[in-house]
Amino acid sequence: MKPSLIVHGGAWNIPDVALEDCRNGCRHALDVGWAILSKGGAALDAVEAAIVLLEDDPTFDAGIGSHLNLDGKIELDAIVMDGATLKAGAVAAVERIRNPIRLARSVLESSEHMMLVGAGAEQFAREQGFTLCDPEQLVLDRERMAWQRCREDQHAVEFHVDHAMGTVGAVAMDSHGNLFAGTSTGGTCCKHAGRVGDSPLIGCGCYADAEAGGVSCTGLGEAIMRIVMAKTAVEFLRAGKSPQAAAEASTRLLLARGRGTGGLILLDKDGAPGFAFNTARMAFGYVAPDGSFIVAP
Ligand code: GLY
Repeated sequence: MKPSLIVHGGAWNIPDVALEDCRNGCRHALDVGWAILSKGGAALDAVEAAIVLLEDDPTFDAGIGSHLNLDGKIELDAIVMDGATLKAGAVAAVERIRNPIRLARSVLESSEHMMLVGAGAEQFAREQGFTLCDPEQLVLDRERMAWQRCREDQHAVEFHVDHAMGTVGAVAMDSHGNLFAGTSTGGTCCKHAGRVGDSPLIGCGCYADAEAGGVSCTGLGEAIMRIVMAKTAVEFLRAGKSPQAAAEASTRLLLARGRGTGGLILLDKDGAPGFAFNTARMAFGYVAPDGSFIVAP
C-alpha cells in the first residue's frame, strides 16, 4: 500500500511576514514524517515525529512558543488516535511537558485510559520516565510581551485576530494501511486557567477511523467543539463524500453552525488527502502521489 502524509500548522490570518516560517515548518514536518513512511515505517511514528518537529518550531502555537493563559502560564493539549482500534491517547492542561504529543502517545500505548489532564497527566509522565521541564523553557519573549499587552488593552479582539498562531497536526497512513491522526496546541491566547479547547478531545480536534478516514483540526476550539468537527468530517467521508468535499463541507458547517473559524486536514481510508479552511490562510502540506511535497500558504 502506498503511504500518505498530511500536516498542518494552523488556520488563521497568517501575515505575509510569517509565510516563509510557516512553509518551512510544514516542509520540515513532511521531511521527518516521510523519511519514516517512505522506508516502510509506522504511521504512528510518522505522526509523532512530524508533530514533535512542529512543537519544537517556535513559529507555531504548540510546545515551544505556545500562547500564555490569563495567569501568564502555558497549558498544553495533545492527542493521537489509532484508526484501527479507535483508541486515543490525550493529555490536557500540562505545563511541564516539552513535547505533549509524546506523552499523548504514551497514554495511547501504556494507559488503560484515553485522556489525562493537569497534575495527573504529569504524574503519569513521571511514571513513564519522562523528564519534566521548567515551563519557562517553553515561553518566548514574544508571548510574554503579547500577554503583557493583553493585560493592558483588556484582550482587544483586533489584537487576538492577528495573534491567533497555529495549532499543529498530522495524519498518516503507512504501507501496511495503518491510519493515525494527531493534534497538539497551546490553545488560545489569554484563555482562562484550566480552559481546554477542541484539540485533545476525541472527535473534536482529532479523529481517526480506518474504515473512513483520519482528521486533524485547527481554529477556535469552542466553535470546533460545537460541531464535533473531526468526527463530522469522518462521517462525511463514510457517507461517500470525496476527501476535498468532506473537508469543505466541514468548514462550511464550522462557520454556519459552529459560528467560528478554522480549518482541517484529512486522509480518507485509502490515503487520499483533503484540506479546507474558512480563514484567510492555513499552513499545511502533503505528499503528492509522485512523492513531491505540496506546501502552503
Ligand atoms: N484549536 C485550539 C484551541 O482552540 O485550543
